[in-house]
Amino acid sequence: MKVSPHIPRIIQDNIPKLRADLLRRYDESGRTLPWRVRPEDRKRGVVADPYAVWLSEIMLQQTTVPHGTPYWEKFLARWPAVADLARADRDDVLAMWAGLGYYARARNLHKCAQIIRDDYDGSFPKTEKELLKLPGVGPYTAATMAAICFNQPTNIVDGNVERVISRLYAEDAPLPKSKSLLRDLAAPIADSDRPGDYGQALMDLGSTVCTPTSPKCEICPWSFVCRAFKDGNPEYYPQKIKKVRPVKYGAVFALICDGNILMQKRPDKGLLGGMLELPSSPWEQTMPEAPLSFAPDRKNWEKCQGQVKHVFTHFELRLDVYRAETKAQNIEGIWAELDNLLAYAVPTLTKKAITLAMSA
Ligand code: ADE
Repeated sequence: MKVSPHIPRIIQDNIPKLRADLLRRYDESGRTLPWRVRPEDRKRGVVADPYAVWLSEIMLQQTTVPHGTPYWEKFLARWPAVADLARADRDDVLAMWAGLGYYARARNLHKCAQIIRDDYDGSFPKTEKELLKLPGVGPYTAATMAAICFNQPTNIVDGNVERVISRLYAEDAPLPKSKSLLRDLAAPIADSDRPGDYGQALMDLGSTVCTPTSPKCEICPWSFVCRAFKDGNPEYYPQKIKKVRPVKYGAVFALICDGNILMQKRPDKGLLGGMLELPSSPWEQTMPEAPLSFAPDRKNWEKCQGQVKHVFTHFELRLDVYRAETKAQNIEGIWAELDNLLAYAVPTLTKKAITLAMSA
């Protein structure tokens, strides 16, 4: 049986005040975001568009609001409703996602849109449990959508909320192991009258006040009960288990012909699945000894100065880049127009390699 965590008296006694003060702050000065229904509009009966909220929440899991917002705007302009996205060509979805990383999310996004169309009559399900069955929708997205779009009393916990809660309780068990503990510590405070506004207010608090460094405790509505503030060391939280990322090495080949560059499509599944890449050696623990043996053709390959470095979740990659020109596009692959790379599903790693090759 699961044991409920200990909630200190000072927090228990102040739960109504914590909720009210946080919501007041949100009502007065919460961020205006294009997919967000502001509380005053909600009062007038405006409801959130589940499609727009879902898109924003999937995008914002791996990126900041300033970086993600233009992507969200482009997606909505091109595919205004979930049925439009379901109908889209998957390569176009990947091309529009290029630069956001974590491409499995884009593949799941497309799959999910088709499931909503085919199995749910074009409307998102309304409960956390049903939402959780959708591809790419995890506990965070399900809780957030259920609360924001359907007013369900859920417990919304993202990375920002984990930071706020770990400080509030001075909980030093390290992430990611402490995730479920932090969720349990957040649950009793969550507001069930305005669950969507409460969740967004708490995320806003984490991203604008209870920031990783230099938190603005002097304006925080929760500092009066915050244990880390009282102890004078909020930045100590949350503790994290340090990941050691192995480094892999490889070489890629930029073959250029008349303003076009030779690319190939990666296998559908796995890292960067379905995205385009430059022809490449395998990526290994040490640089392959004869990298040119992996080149697409015998050309006068010129090694570019410098290396491309890229950090993935599970490893860091260092790539040497070779460049050559050819007169004929007689090698099979995708000859992408260099002036129009935005039209292709080119991930950031590949863009960096092309930039290096073109600056040689
Ligand atoms: N980060 C991701 N989604 C958010 C939301 N709905 N409100 C505030 N911050 C967020």
